[in-house]
Amino acid sequence: MHNLPATDPELDLAALIQPDRVSRRLYTDQAIFDLEMQRIFGRAWLYLAHESQLPREGDYVTTWMGTQPVIVVRHKGGAIHVLHNRCPHRGVMVITDDHGNTGNTIRCGYHGWTFRTNGELLLAPMRDAYANRYDMQDHACFGLSRVPRVDSYRGFIFGSLAPLSYPLPELATFLGEATHCIDRIADRAPAGEVDVSGGVHKYLIRGNWKAQVENLNDNYHPPFSHACTTDETTQRQFRRRYGDDSGVHLDTSEQNSKWDSVLAQGLDWGLSYCGPLPFNHEKRGGPLYDAHHSALAAKHGETHAEEILTDFFHNVIVYPSVVMQLASSHVRTIRPVAPDYTEIRVYPIKLKGAPEEINRQLIRYLNITHSAASLIQSDDVEMFRRVQGGLASQGQEWVWFNRHMEDDQFRRGGGTSEVVMRNQYQAGYLRYMEEK
Ligand code: FES
Ligand SMILES: [Fe+2]
Repeated sequence: MHNLPATDPELDLAALIQPDRVSRRLYTDQAIFDLEMQRIFGRAWLYLAHESQLPREGDYVTTWMGTQPVIVVRHKGGAIHVLHNRCPHRGVMVITDDHGNTGNTIRCGYHGWTFRTNGELLLAPMRDAYANRYDMQDHACFGLSRVPRVDSYRGFIFGSLAPLSYPLPELATFLGEATHCIDRIADRAPAGEVDVSGGVHKYLIRGNWKAQVENLNDNYHPPFSHACTTDETTQRQFRRRYGDDSGVHLDTSEQNSKWDSVLAQGLDWGLSYCGPLPFNHEKRGGPLYDAHHSALAAKHGETHAEEILTDFFHNVIVYPSVVMQLASSHVRTIRPVAPDYTEIRVYPIKLKGAPEEINRQLIRYLNITHSAASLIQSDDVEMFRRVQGGLASQGQEWVWFNRHMEDDQFRRGGGTSEVVMRNQYQAGYLRYMEEK
C-alpha cells in the first residue's frame, strides 16, 4: 500500500516549488499527481464524514482518501471504523452506495464473502475449498483492511493512511488553531453539536485539486471573478439569512482595499483560515436571531452567546482535503480524481437545537451559492477550468504567489496577500512531499 511510484529522476521539488512561485507541472503532470496521492493524501489527516451521518449501528458513508475508496461505518457498540472499500478476494468494491445501513455485516456482491463491520471476515461461502492450508482469520490477507489512524473532533471524523512510523501528530495537535474555528461552528448549535446529514451537492470540476484549495482563502479574486453575481450599482447580492433584509453587500469595485483588511493566517501543515469578510455583516435582531441568541444564552450566558454569534473567521482550510465555513455554514470536501479532475462535495452544517427556520434558510442559501448551478461557486469553477486550460500552454513556466511577499509577517497577511498559498506549499505540500 505504501510503495511509492517510481519518482521521475528529473523531479527536483525545490526547483519546482520556490518560495514565491511554483511550476505549471504541479497542475498537469501525472507523475507528480501520483506522488501527491502517496505522500500528501496518503499521509495527511483527511476529513471523511461527520458522526451525525452515522447515528446507528450499521450506518455507513462511503468516501475517498485521495484516489482510494473507503467505508466509514459504525460498528456494534458504537465504535467507528474506516475500512478500505476493497474485497480481499478479488478486489471488488464491497459497497457502492454513498450512504445507508448495512446491518451487522457487509457482503461482497461478487462471491458473497461476508465481513463484520469492523472488517473481520465472517464467512466465505463453500469454505471447505480453502481447506486448512489458509487461515481465513488472518485479517491482513482476508479481512477488509482498516485505515490505521482514525479520530474525530467535535464529531468531524478524520483518517490518515500514514503508517504509524510516519511522524504525524494526533488529530487535535494537527488541527492546532483550527480547533477554535471548528469549536465556533459547533458552539453555534444550542445542542452543542451539529448535524451534517442534510444532503450534499456534488460536482466534478475540470481542474487540479490545488486550484480549489488555493482559491478558498483568496480575497484578491472576488471583485473580478464574482462581479457578475452582484448588481453593478448597488453591489448587492440577494437576501441571505435572518436579519438581512436587503441582501449581502459584496463590494466588487476593483480598487476596493477593504479586501486587504481581511486577516489571512497560515498554520502548521499547510492549514489556514481567513477572518470575516468586510461585507459579510449580518444585521443583529429580528425574531429568528433573538430565538437563536436566547437558546445559546440559556446554555452559555448572555456574553458568551454574543461572542458565539460574532464571526471571527470566514472559513478554515484543513489542508488538503476540506474547508469549513462559518456564516454560510457548510463543509466542502476536495477529492482529487486526476491531474485535471477534482470532485467537490458541499454538505450543509445544520445547528442542532436552533430554530428550524434557520436551518431551512441555510440550505436555501447554499443552494444559491454553492450548488453546481449557483451564483457564486460556478464563477470559481469556471476559473478553475480556465486555469487548467491556460496551464496547457508552455509559454510560461511559473504560477506566481508573490503578492505582498515583502510585507507579510510570518504566515500572516492581509486578505489579498498570497501568504496562505505560500504557506500551503512550504508548510504543507513540501513537508509531505520531501519526506521519502
Ligand atoms: S470478490 Fe468479493 S467475494 Fe469474490
Ligand atoms: Fe470565489
